[in-house]
Amino acid sequence: MSEFQQKCSILSRDRLAFDVFRLTLQAPGIAATACPGQFVMVRVSDGLDPLLRRPFSIHRCFADGRISLLFKVIGKGTELLARRCIGDQVDLVGPLGNGFVGNGVGNGFEFSDDRPVCLIGGGMGIAPLLFLAEQLHKSGRETEKDHVLLGARTQDELTPLADEFSNLGYPVQLATDDGSVGHKGFIPDLLDFILPTVEQVYTCGPHLMMKNVVRQCQQAEVPCQVSLETHMACGMGACLGCTVNGKKGLVHVCKQGPVFDADQLEWSLE
Ligand SMILES: Cc1cc2nc3c(=O)[nH]c(=O)nc-3n(C[C@H](O)[C@H](O)[C@H](O)COP(=O)(O)OP(=O)(O)OC[C@H]3O[C@@H](n4cnc5c(N)ncnc54)[C@H](O)[C@@H]3O)c2cc1C
Ligand code: FES
Repeated sequence: MSEFQQKCSILSRDRLAFDVFRLTLQAPGIAATACPGQFVMVRVSDGLDPLLRRPFSIHRCFADGRISLLFKVIGKGTELLARRCIGDQVDLVGPLGNGFVGNGVGNGFEFSDDRPVCLIGGGMGIAPLLFLAEQLHKSGRETEKDHVLLGARTQDELTPLADEFSNLGYPVQLATDDGSVGHKGFIPDLLDFILPTVEQVYTCGPHLMMKNVVRQCQQAEVPCQVSLETHMACGMGACLGCTVNGKKGLVHVCKQGPVFDADQLEWSLE
């Protein structure tokens, strides 16, 4: 698959919550080939500090060559990225890694029957799921039969993201740690009723959330694809910085993932 290194202009910068930002960039090469679940490595400043690029999921991808990134400020790199302005050029490499796959041909999201799928996003793990939701919607699915479960610390972090899934026709259920919207508690609490009806689960979010989702899916014998977020240095399989335990030995999240079939990974040992 082609990878591009591009200097991309920032077209818009939106502050969605106190520490959550969305940048939309002109990135035609990346937009033309990206699949949901793939990521870009971003040089967050024009200088050499920080030296390493930071990985971000492709959050949205548009036919006119734009892509969006959704991120939370947690350290120096994301703080610098959040300070970038409309018109600034940002150096991106991508699309990288392997994304989510449908159970039909390639990334076409053709499903063997019309049983619902379930998308489960926690915190910034929601980022790749909007791109996935848009692709599934484009494939002609009846999205009102699917399920979207989104969780975050507070209501602020979920709006307007929840509306964007609703606008595509998905029924959305929310959970917040503080109970400010939706279920007060964790996403996996909502899953037991849904699982017997679904064909496939796709999830991205905090490790503990995904571990619980995977356990429930394994018990219900529902296939589950997970997108992992590890520390990354090179993003291209060269540094061993991103390895996790797979069932058959160590795997590189950047190269063999970030999306894996949950059954490929050794959850109990991590
Ligand atoms: C494939 C992939 C996709 C990602 N997509 C997104 C996204 O769409 N939106 C988003 O907000 N973030 C995403 N991340 C996480 C993002 O890369 C980190 O938040 C970012 O690199 C932090 O950089 P920083 O310089 O601000 O923080 P640093 O100064 O590097 O770190 C600040 C603190 O956060 C911890 N930390 C840093 N990175 C991670 C991580 N990956 N997992 C757990 N703890 C971490 C550090 O240990 C440290 O305690 C993704 C990560 C991966 C691997
Ligand atoms: S980040 Fe370097 S090998 Fe994956």
